[in-house]
Amino acid sequence: MKSMAKSTLPLSLVYRLLEPGPVVLVSTSSGERTNIMTMSWHMMVDFELPILACVISNRGYSFEAVRRTREFVINIPTVDLAKKVVGCGNISGRSIDKFKKFGLTPSAAACVQAPLIEECYANLECKVIDTKLTTKYNIFICEVVKAWIDRSKTLPRTMHHRGNGKFVIDGETIKLPSRMK
Ligand SMILES: Cc1cc2nc3c(=O)[nH]c(=O)nc-3n(C[C@H](O)[C@H](O)[C@H](O)COP(=O)(O)O)c2cc1C
Repeated sequence: MKSMAKSTLPLSLVYRLLEPGPVVLVSTSSGERTNIMTMSWHMMVDFELPILACVISNRGYSFEAVRRTREFVINIPTVDLAKKVVGCGNISGRSIDKFKKFGLTPSAAACVQAPLIEECYANLECKVIDTKLTTKYNIFICEVVKAWIDRSKTLPRTMHHRGNGKFVIDGETIKLPSRMK
């Protein structure tokens, strides 16, 4: 058998190969306080209705707001917001107001108390529908109940996390006959 040219990858780095992206900003509201956290561990679970799974660590400030209010907004930023996106993931909202610190603008959502982040090109208002996996894995299953998009951005260049401060930015689009809608 031919010997393999590959070497082993530490299991702790496997996520970098499968990371779906795009990197998003999760906004929450718990009473008077609003907050933002950066999230890249999310996946679609169903189309219609759109159901997602999100990993929101119980070490962060956002966790308690999501657990208690059972709602949040997923805001999808483009690369022009990259520094703010990473900034929101490097600091906790326990001690600061990230809307102020990063100059982001909250605006009212239609179906949830959590604010939309205006600068992001799309916003998904989410309600938590299942917390069976939350205690064990910090996974919240949620349904998107309202979605907003800036249609003037025809080729939004979103960010995809590669680990260790590296991101891949959307580039070329190719079109193939695919049965997936
Ligand atoms: C690129 C990037 C991706 C991240 N993805 C996640 C994630 O998927 N889940 C998570 O719990 N934390 C993730 N984090 C870390 C949180 O954003 C970070 O712990 C943040 O400070 C939490 O804020 P909070 O304490 O205000 O909730 C990510 C951070 C970065 C920079």
